[in-house]
Amino acid sequence: MRGLYLDNAATTRVDENVALSVNEVFLESYGNASSLHKVGRQARMKLEDARGKIANYLGCKSKEVIFTSGGTESNNLAIRGLAKANPLKKHIITSVIEHPCVLDAVRDLESEGYEVDYLEVDSKGLISLDDVEEKIRKDTLVVSIMHVNNEIGVVQDIEEIGRICRMRGVYFHTDNVQGFLKKKLDLGFVDLMSGSGHKVQAPKGIGILYVREGVVIEPIVTGGGQEGGLRSGTENVPGAVGLAAAIDVDFKLNKVLASRDLIIAGLLKIPGAKINGDMEHRVYNNISVSFYGIEGESLMMLLNEDGIYVSTGSACASSKLKESYVLKALKVDEMYIHGSLRLSLGADAIGEEDYIVEKIRESVLKLREMSPFKFSEENLKDVRDKKLEIRKEVLGNEEEQEDN
Ligand SMILES: Cc1ncc(COP(=O)(O)O)c(C=O)c1O
Repeated sequence: MRGLYLDNAATTRVDENVALSVNEVFLESYGNASSLHKVGRQARMKLEDARGKIANYLGCKSKEVIFTSGGTESNNLAIRGLAKANPLKKHIITSVIEHPCVLDAVRDLESEGYEVDYLEVDSKGLISLDDVEEKIRKDTLVVSIMHVNNEIGVVQDIEEIGRICRMRGVYFHTDNVQGFLKKKLDLGFVDLMSGSGHKVQAPKGIGILYVREGVVIEPIVTGGGQEGGLRSGTENVPGAVGLAAAIDVDFKLNKVLASRDLIIAGLLKIPGAKINGDMEHRVYNNISVSFYGIEGESLMMLLNEDGIYVSTGSACASSKLKESYVLKALKVDEMYIHGSLRLSLGADAIGEEDYIVEKIRESVLKLREMSPFKFSEENLKDVRDKKLEIRKEVLGNEEEQEDN
């Protein structure tokens, strides 16, 4: 049995038509796109066709689309590239719930003397437009705010944030890795936008950075001068062709959305369950759910045995049993944070909603039965105190070891 893959925000299975188009490049149009002979020119044509198709989808010019190795590189190129090209502007605005590749890039710049404002979010995961407006200064280089959050699926008002930035003459970058091809975005007020192939049934190792014409950035990878000098390295033609082919993938948005809502309704019937993040401004396939008083990691492993593949809310930090910084930013109660799961649905979920809910319910109840503290709506507080005590012990020891 292949199982039910419900972890599409982590990565996706490559679509069959996308795989066919990539395979053609592997076997036929395999030249180096910078070579001048026939095989090279054939590869160049494929690359430029792919760029044109993506530009057409985005409603921009071909030369505004830069191919990179993925979302991480695109975000780094946007932020570090802007910083290198505009050395007099030393202030950056971002949010506390950005992906680690954005947070690490700005923290690096912070250590080099930049000042960074990390915008908080409300309990639903939304950024306040007033905060953006208030924090902008004369020396602000860029505002970098993600479109769709990878953990809770919450969608920010990118168009309005972009409008504020444009009015104030500040560059605006958005990490659109989780929204690209799935949630339409008007680039009218966006200066730079990152996307990635492997989240949309295209291969791993390919991404794009949209750079509005006239926005000057410096490369962070230098060498052969490919991609208009902004990203050196032999062009990944198969990846680019695959990414362009993903535009035609049917993500079954409406069916997956209906599936998501059925599963959410079912999950909320489990005692001590809550959904994290805004329900209205949420990507079509995300369910971030927490169950009071259990370990998300154990739940994930039980589901794994049933062939249901999901991640914990704190995927990045799960090996260290640390809380998700995203859920913490939403001020989710600690006893819920540790029992978090992220389901990011795709076609596998359609028609399997009852089975998914039932397996999660069974596993939650099983974990509660195994737990030394008995769960009931009344004793939530006792369970919480006991578990916090144990967690403190475990984390205390771990932290000691890390310090050594
Ligand atoms: C919001 C967000 N930004 C950036 C990235 C990094 O993208 P990539 O894996 O293509 O480097 C991810 C991947 O998980 C993501 O979810």
